[in-house]
Amino acid sequence: MSSFSQSANRLNKFEIQEELGRGGFGVVYKALDTVLGRTVAIKVLHPNLVNDPSFLSRFSKEAQIAAQLDHPNLVPVYDFGHEDGRYYIVMGYMSGGSLKDRLAKEGKLSPERALEIIEQVGRGIDYAHRKGIVHRDLKPGNILFDDEGRARVSDMGFAKVLSGGAGISMSISGGVVGTPAYMAPEIWKGQEASPATDVYSLACILSEMVTGEVLFDGDTTPAVMTRHFEPIHIPMDVPEAWRRGLEAGLATDPNRRIQKAPLLLDRIRKQSTEISSASPAIRTPSKKKSPLLLYGALGLMGLLAFFAFFRNLEKPDSSNLNIEPPPSQASISALTTHEVAIPTLPETSTPDPTETNAFLLLLPLLILIVLLVLLSNSAPPTAP
Ligand SMILES: Nc1ncnc2c1ncn2[C@@H]1O[C@H](COP(=O)(O)OP(=O)(O)O)[C@@H](O)[C@H]1O
Ligand SMILES: [Mg+2]
Repeated sequence: MSSFSQSANRLNKFEIQEELGRGGFGVVYKALDTVLGRTVAIKVLHPNLVNDPSFLSRFSKEAQIAAQLDHPNLVPVYDFGHEDGRYYIVMGYMSGGSLKDRLAKEGKLSPERALEIIEQVGRGIDYAHRKGIVHRDLKPGNILFDDEGRARVSDMGFAKVLSGGAGISMSISGGVVGTPAYMAPEIWKGQEASPATDVYSLACILSEMVTGEVLFDGDTTPAVMTRHFEPIHIPMDVPEAWRRGLEAGLATDPNRRIQKAPLLLDRIRKQSTEISSASPAIRTPSKKKSPLLLYGALGLMGLLAFFAFFRNLEKPDSSNLNIEPPPSQASISALTTHEVAIPTLPETSTPDPTETNAFLLLLPLLILIVLLVLLSNSAPPTAP
């Protein structure tokens, strides 16, 4: 691996500060662009890679394409170059680290947070697809967070350069180009990659974010490969609402798979909304509706109480109606877990029995309304 001694900690105008990580193709350093005065990340390619004369022309062509990409959810490529036989790519420095590191440190994410990240990643990937570029090596290690916490995709287009086109090829460490756990079946078969190849990886990553477990795992590369061709078992931790969308994104045959990142996300979002309105597995939309319905119910209660009060002033004889007892204290206190104020008569007042009777007649009705509203908004989420 390339490394820098104290005396050689410069690469052209870049002052190398620290090593950020290592991948199959080189070492990534944090560096200072001494001309522009900004911090960047520099990936220095392993010397063995650049022995292949065709590599450099492919690499420079792909770097030029990657440098054209300009999207808030992609890691910007600023430059590429070489010095003393060391080839490097200069990128935006992502201070938030990678999704891989975050999952390792913090464990699985909430479905809401996972959706937020995958939607950002999906937007970056879709932008690249519309420019004719397929990532081919989408994985948590290539999803980085910038200083605002926004997810950005890195290494866009470079897997193609490193593999030399379609099909599987070996990295300098002997592994395949692409990362076995996220690699779509067509790549294992040596077929051409398409946007659907990235959709497959997106689906793998979405599952992993909410389960904390790699979806297609195994001890060896052949074991992982086999799992990609077996029938899919979506883990229990994945929200019910996502299952069908994920299955459609993980179809073995790329032609039967969801073809584009936004379609995968639309499908997951749509089914989440449908299911949450029936039985809220993902409860974000119902949270918004809740205050409105509660205010409506409380308003209705106020109106009914007002109406009952004046009716009793005008018709004091209505006291001969059959009156049910008020609900027990236990049933009222059960409601307080939802932080709804239940109107009660002031303890100090001694109301006229005719008014009280009419009010007590309406009280069960009012409590029934509140209960119905609470049940429709606060039912516990169903287990996935
Ligand atoms: N632009 C960047 N900003 C900050 N850290 C980066 C950047 N690019 C890569 N890294 C770090 O370097 C590590 C190695 O990156 P890379 O060589 O692309 O390997 P891989 O993609 O296999 O993780 C990444 O996991 C990440 O932690
Ligand atoms: Mg990478």
